[in-house]
Amino acid sequence: MADLIKSGIDGMDSMLFGGFPRENQIMVGGGPGAGKSLIAFEYIYRGALAGEPGMIFAFDEEPKKIISNVKGAFPNFERLDGLIDEGLIKIEGRDILQEAFNKYEQAGMEFGRIVADMEKKVIASGAKRAVVDSSSDFELVIKDPIIYRRSMWSLAANFRRLGVTTVFTSEIHNPDRKKLVFKPEHFIFDGIILMYQNGEDSRRIPALEIIKMRGHKHSFSTAPYEITPNGFKIYSPETIDDQ
Ligand SMILES: Nc1ncnc2c1ncn2[C@@H]1O[C@H](COP(=O)(O)OP(=O)(O)OP(=O)(O)O)[C@@H](O)[C@H]1O
Ligand SMILES: [Mg+2]
Repeated sequence: MADLIKSGIDGMDSMLFGGFPRENQIMVGGGPGAGKSLIAFEYIYRGALAGEPGMIFAFDEEPKKIISNVKGAFPNFERLDGLIDEGLIKIEGRDILQEAFNKYEQAGMEFGRIVADMEKKVIASGAKRAVVDSSSDFELVIKDPIIYRRSMWSLAANFRRLGVTTVFTSEIHNPDRKKLVFKPEHFIFDGIILMYQNGEDSRRIPALEIIKMRGHKHSFSTAPYEITPNGFKIYSPETIDDQ
């Protein structure tokens, strides 16, 4: 039986038959506004509530804005400020990437430095859980697709070596299940979870699917989800009793 790390997200651990295999590097993909950043944050929040330190690398938004977005979506996350004050949730902004943006021509070399910086922060924080939001931002730094894929591989390998279970958010440009196209870098992750916008033209129905989870059984269903004041609610057809 794999050593599992509970996501703590309502319905997710049923779909995962217990949780993520520890040290897995998991991509959470979806279209704009699917809830990728919020679900990744909840994963860190639930871990911190259970005493597990988490580290968020947020490249899309400033830490202050992220916290206010989370408070807006999840007003019942009452321990949020306290967990940040206690150092159980750490948020790094885009400074790590900013310098590399300015040195675009040497991006391959710069990427090594970014990975080293991230590694140092993870070690210093003692994080067991991490989030990289979004991994797609590295495409802005590295233009050669082979170097990009190799860089993503080394990033995932580094986190694995550090013993961290990581969620990498990723932009999926066509989040319609029937028209999915995977990019080469998606094959390097241990797990893939996709967030779709299904349904009729007049109303979208968000739903989530686990495409793969190396080393562990998982649901093959596509489950609707909602963003509630208490966090995500995933309507998993699997129940804890099935496991
Ligand atoms: N209070 C709320 N109640 C319900 N849904 C909310 C609430 N606040 C935000 N949302 C939903 O969450 C979405 C934003 O979630 P999030 O920022 O995680 O998306 P994302 O997938 O990271 O998007 P992007 O690709 O733009 O970064 C909003 O578009 C909205 O649909
Ligand atoms: Mg986002």
